[in-house]
Amino acid sequence: MRWQVLLFFLMLSLCSVLGQVSYSIPEEMSKGSLVGNIAQDLGLDLKRLKTGKARLHVGNSAEYIELNKEKGLLLIKEKIDRETLCKQTTPCALHFQIILENPIEFYRVTVEITDINDNAPMFEMNNVLFEISESAVSGAKFVLEKALDSDVGINGLKSYSLNPTDNFALKLNDNADGGKEIEMVLEKPLDREKEERLTLTLTAVDGGELQLSGTVHIHVTVLDANDNAPVFSQSTYKGSLMENSQKGTSLLTVTATDIDKGPNAFVTYSISNNVNGILDLFEIHETSGEVRLIGNVDYETSKHYQLNIKAKDRGGLSDSCKIILDITDVNDNGPIIDLMSTTQSIPEDSSLQTVVAVMNVHDADSDNNGVVKCFLSHGEPFIIENTSNGFYSILANSDLDRERASEYNITVTCSDEGVPSLSSSVTLTLQISDVNDNEPVFERSSYEAYIVENNTPGVSVFTVRATDADWNQNARLSYILEDSSVNGVPVSSYVSVSADSGVIRAVRSFDYEQIKDFKFRVKAQDGGSPPLSSNVTVKMMIQDQNDNPPQVLYPVQTGGSVVAEMVPRSADVGYLVTKVVAVDVDSGQNAWLSYKLQKATDRALFEVGSQNGEIRTIRQVSDKDAVKQRLSVIVEDNGQPSRSATVIVNVAVADSFPEVLSEFSDFPHDKEYNDNLTFYLVLALAVVSFLFITCLVVIISVKIYRWRQSRILYHSNLPVIPYYPPRYSDTLGTTGTLQHVYNYEVCRTTDSRKSDCKFGRAGSQNVLIMDPSCSGTMQRMQSEKSILDEPDSPLEVSLIKQNMVISVYYGAY
Ligand SMILES: *[C@@H]1O[C@H](CO)[C@@H](O)[C@H](O)[C@H]1NC(C)=O
Ligand SMILES: *[C@@H]1O[C@H](CO)[C@@H](O)[C@H](O)[C@H]1NC(C)=O
Repeated sequence: MRWQVLLFFLMLSLCSVLGQVSYSIPEEMSKGSLVGNIAQDLGLDLKRLKTGKARLHVGNSAEYIELNKEKGLLLIKEKIDRETLCKQTTPCALHFQIILENPIEFYRVTVEITDINDNAPMFEMNNVLFEISESAVSGAKFVLEKALDSDVGINGLKSYSLNPTDNFALKLNDNADGGKEIEMVLEKPLDREKEERLTLTLTAVDGGELQLSGTVHIHVTVLDANDNAPVFSQSTYKGSLMENSQKGTSLLTVTATDIDKGPNAFVTYSISNNVNGILDLFEIHETSGEVRLIGNVDYETSKHYQLNIKAKDRGGLSDSCKIILDITDVNDNGPIIDLMSTTQSIPEDSSLQTVVAVMNVHDADSDNNGVVKCFLSHGEPFIIENTSNGFYSILANSDLDRERASEYNITVTCSDEGVPSLSSSVTLTLQISDVNDNEPVFERSSYEAYIVENNTPGVSVFTVRATDADWNQNARLSYILEDSSVNGVPVSSYVSVSADSGVIRAVRSFDYEQIKDFKFRVKAQDGGSPPLSSNVTVKMMIQDQNDNPPQVLYPVQTGGSVVAEMVPRSADVGYLVTKVVAVDVDSGQNAWLSYKLQKATDRALFEVGSQNGEIRTIRQVSDKDAVKQRLSVIVEDNGQPSRSATVIVNVAVADSFPEVLSEFSDFPHDKEYNDNLTFYLVLALAVVSFLFITCLVVIISVKIYRWRQSRILYHSNLPVIPYYPPRYSDTLGTTGTLQHVYNYEVCRTTDSRKSDCKFGRAGSQNVLIMDPSCSGTMQRMQSEKSILDEPDSPLEVSLIKQNMVISVYYGAY
């Protein structure tokens, strides 16, 4: 090509170059548009053009311009696009020649094509995709595609703009070849979590008068980076849990969210602390965050648990939170009773409020589950007292008595107030030790013992027995005979008491006729310290034995003289001849006498009253009956065996004494009897005389004394009745039914002037003041021993109780 052009110009130079003309036209003129009046401009006339067969020589290039020979004009033959023609070369011109023949001439024509802004900047693609990690730092550069503008010069590409400019800025770099490099620079970091996709518009504008532009859309996808940590929904979770909950119980679920995406948002949970063995108790599900119980929680061990939970994403970012678990108490602990101090035994005389035991009670549970109340199951006689928090004392609340209860099982029960309540109990055994607080007690308040007279000395009579409610030594009794005297003789010469058995023995042989009874005291004493004792009265009664025969008092049996009872011959049937009087010093049946006619001269004439001893005639005495009658009367007592005495009664059946004398002079054996009789009579007379005088003196002096006393003290004129008890008095009324009769008799005997009423006390040595009306009060004035009551006193009032016959010695004469 090049060489062709060179060849062409060579040819031209060979030819004659007659002229040159230049035109300038804008591109894109429509077909037929005028380029220039070539004829005029070259100074050629139109004929020449025709004749010369003027033509355009364009060589190889396309024919954009044509020659109008008629008018001599250059016209656009074909629309010229400068960009096609010259690309970016400037200036852009079409060079051709107008060639004429005849003669050959040619003219050079240059048509410069000027640019018009007919091309907008253009990007190769409409959309560009970018994937940029959000972690990209500021300053990161992203090269963009350049825009192209075919126009040149001012109409060429002028500038770019990017919109929006929140994150990115544009940067144009000059290239080494003079071009421009366009870059997008990250100014503000991206955040996927805010905006995952961005669309930017890059606009390129040219510099033409009518600005044209081209755009490209830049689509930025923000790639996730693990720039966000998981976040728990709460920083602290609270929950509660009953102690003793089942393993596997789900407690709560924690959640942490990670706003990242994909794996960066994949959160796993774990427990990060392990104080108090938390990991043995709780577990957390790695992905769901559910917390479960895997062990046994005990409120008493720990009331709260704090779990530190960590949430972690795949990228290792984490967050933590706390779970506070409150353990709720369940009444799973019973009260625990701790006996701190107990007493095995306390004396029965311990004072009230004596502390028996001290204990501490506690319950590991809390609130009501741990509130404990204690009480005694069988309270009496103890109480329980809450002394201070959790401390209790058991006190004796009432008097203790070992004799009532010697041992107590004190059961303490403590229960808490949980629902249901738990309780526990403990039993302590307390012995009550003995104190010598009971005196011996005899089985009876008094004893009566009987012993038959004429006993062998040393015979055991009976046994007193006492008991003592105390224990052991305090109940070990010994029996002691208390000193006293019986009839002036120490009682110990009558009886003895065995110290340990209480057996009472007679020391001597008793004679009922000497002593009928006596009293003494036996003391029982225990071995306590100090000892306690009590005593009892024992009345020993001697029982009669029929050891005395009846004694005949009348008729007197004399040795020498003969006494005879006279019976006149005129005596009627039932005539009382005489009366046999006998006594028996025994008593009771032993002294119950009966009389029987044993022998008689004439059995048909007399009879003896079996009860009263009266001898009476049972038929009319006749002249034929002998003067001298001899009766033998036997007096028998009623004892077993009975004893008897015989008396001879002489009866003279006569009308005159001489008659009798002659008959009885031949009783030789009566002499001795008479001697005896004389002696007794003299003795009796002397004694009676003495007694009479003594009585007189005593009565007078007593009367004077009474009178003075009554004047001083009472101003009373009450008569004084001295009362002389008989020798054979039944002092304690063992034959009590006779007491009244006996009194009555004595009353009449001593002073018949006075009333028949008698207030007497057998055996007492009293003087009684008596109201004459017998209804007044009786007052004991004197209890001294009357001198009249001497044992040897001759004034004897003998009483034969059975038949109430009184025989007074001095009254016999
Ligand atoms: C106390 O308990 C013991 C043993 O259980 C028993 O042998 C005793 O009889 C009880 N005592 C009383 C007074 O209940
Ligand atoms: C005997 O007992 C009575 C009461 O039973 C008492 O009054 C008296 O003092 C006692 N006698 C002696 C000597 O202990």
